[in-house]
Amino acid sequence: MTTEKEIAKARIVALTLELEEHNHRYYVLNAPIISDQQFDHLLKELEGLEHAFPEFASPNSPTQRVGGDITKEFPQVKHEYPMLSLGNSYSREEVIAFVERVKKEIGDTTFVTELKYDGVAISLVYENGELVRGVTRGDGEKGEDITANVRTVRTIPLKLKGSDWPRRFEMRGEIFFTHVQFEKLNAERANEGAELYANPRNTAAGTLKNQDPKLVAKRGLDSFLYAMYGEELPTRSHSANLRKASMWGFKVPDPSRGFIASATDVDGIMRFIERWDTERHTIELATDGIVIKVDNLDVQAELGFTAKSPRWAIAYKFQAEQAITRLNGVSYQVGRTGAVTPVADLEPVLLAGTTVKRASLHNADQIAKLGLRIGDHVHVEKGGEIIPKITGVDPNRRGDLEVVFPEACPECGTALAREEGEAQHYCPNEHHCPPQITGRIEHFVGRKMMAIDGLGGETVAELYEARLVNDIADLYMLTKEQLLGLGKGWGERSAAQVIAGIEASKQVPFEQVLFAIGIRHVGETVAKKLARGIGSMDALMTATREQLLGLDEVGAVIADSVIGFFAVPGNREVVERLRAAGLRMEAEAQAPPLSAKLSGLTFVVSGVFRNFSRDGIKETIEMNGGKVGGSISKKTSYVVAGADMGPAKRTKADELGVPVIDEDAFAAMIA
Ligand code: IVH
Repeated sequence: MTTEKEIAKARIVALTLELEEHNHRYYVLNAPIISDQQFDHLLKELEGLEHAFPEFASPNSPTQRVGGDITKEFPQVKHEYPMLSLGNSYSREEVIAFVERVKKEIGDTTFVTELKYDGVAISLVYENGELVRGVTRGDGEKGEDITANVRTVRTIPLKLKGSDWPRRFEMRGEIFFTHVQFEKLNAERANEGAELYANPRNTAAGTLKNQDPKLVAKRGLDSFLYAMYGEELPTRSHSANLRKASMWGFKVPDPSRGFIASATDVDGIMRFIERWDTERHTIELATDGIVIKVDNLDVQAELGFTAKSPRWAIAYKFQAEQAITRLNGVSYQVGRTGAVTPVADLEPVLLAGTTVKRASLHNADQIAKLGLRIGDHVHVEKGGEIIPKITGVDPNRRGDLEVVFPEACPECGTALAREEGEAQHYCPNEHHCPPQITGRIEHFVGRKMMAIDGLGGETVAELYEARLVNDIADLYMLTKEQLLGLGKGWGERSAAQVIAGIEASKQVPFEQVLFAIGIRHVGETVAKKLARGIGSMDALMTATREQLLGLDEVGAVIADSVIGFFAVPGNREVVERLRAAGLRMEAEAQAPPLSAKLSGLTFVVSGVFRNFSRDGIKETIEMNGGKVGGSISKKTSYVVAGADMGPAKRTKADELGVPVIDEDAFAAMIA
């Protein structure tokens, strides 16, 4: 007899296979055969079944791709095969020397040439066709177990296709951000007013060490696997093993795109190098060189290792991407927050496949450090960074006009200020400095803020110049006739679209309104916390510093910024006009509490827990009528302490006489 349970189990197995196959088709092969909706539908079904029959849920289920609970710590794991580095070479001569040495020792042999992917090295252990462990390189001997994060990388298979894989083996490769994904990430950061990430590799490394796999899942990391290790590998050829790996579902370098090739002599190797030296900028990710490997694993073993690197492989590094050009001038950009950033205006020069005309100079200190003069010939470098930077001055070709950082705002003439400990100069003329005004309006209409369709950088500038909109509240006074009156570019349709977008924005939730009004240090997440914790604009406008500090994730910088914002009469006035226009000024009613068992109590949650995620505990507290505080104070009723709560917090709790309880004691309070 077939029980309901058996049917569910069979369905879970079938759905898992099917979803993993579609995942592979979508992310590795770029050839999906079902729609996103169909995929989501199957995934929902699997989620439902796993929820009903948790005994059949597996950590390698496709449902886990979105990330599991917070990782408490990344345990150290010893690598079965040490993760070595490669010897470097920089010239044809060095490559010839490597090939000669190999030939002398073992005679003719085939080499494989591959791109050297500029990402983060990873070791993936598979047992019985399933991923069991993902470990960072660490010091080469021991690395950190980041399996939960690795599971969220969509191009890494959790269950392998086929059945001819060794019972246990290891794949190695790189995890990275594609240029497109990295730029998307930074566009989101810019939107939130957060500092931009400098380069894809460091961002990938940082992301992989994040304790929240859900965040890692959202970032969209990618992978290329370049080596297989184990006792019972399918063949004795490195390249043939990679072809096998590809059939099992791994994303390996594509020979048809020329990412990997074989060569029998120096000429073949040099052809590969020359091709990629020029073409490397045309592909989706960063490479900083190529790797030359002996293909035959037995020959590899014969050649062996030096202390640090294999004697059967070598890296060839491309020239650092530098150019020399003339500094024609320095201009100063004023951002939405008033920060003034110097930008070098350069004589256009070809660098890393693009023409560079401008380079970031960060701040006044940077200019002083370089001792820049207009007319200097400067070294421009493009690392993984988005904007090229100036790394030095050619001492033989100096200009003669000292670069002097302006004392007044280049846009409005107001004297610039620089606060203690701040790297940047600011224009304090918040309300009358044009780029600050338009910058704020542009931020306000953004997708994650008021989401007003049809308005962007150019249209905002146009409205400002026509004196139709001088602050964010003026948007709500705009009429279609005024837009049509602007003349060229505006028609019935575009004007109607903008007016409709403005009207629709009145329904945007309070937390987005709060993000949109542009309080410094209040990004998307903080706005959410403030909206939830305080409830309304009125409450926020009158909140005390103490009250704000009591909120989850709100520290002194944010609290002071909020208070400072509402201390400015002009800001209060704008908020009142927004209120009059009909924008939402109150948070949506929260789900009704489950119980009032914790009412009147304030908890501080710290550390990592066995049965709850940290957010889960916080939610549970709120659902039972309690409050969650950010830091331990006299008002704290209890500290709920997880495994690794810091000693400083414990001392503070002891000093203030606040009881510290563990998660079991907490669970008992709501039982
Ligand atoms: S093979 C014994 N192949 O470069 C080392 N490494 O300095 C064998 N890398 O940390 C490594 N692309 O993460 C190999 N196609 C490729 C590679 C590659 C990037 C990285 C690797 C390692 C570093 C070696």
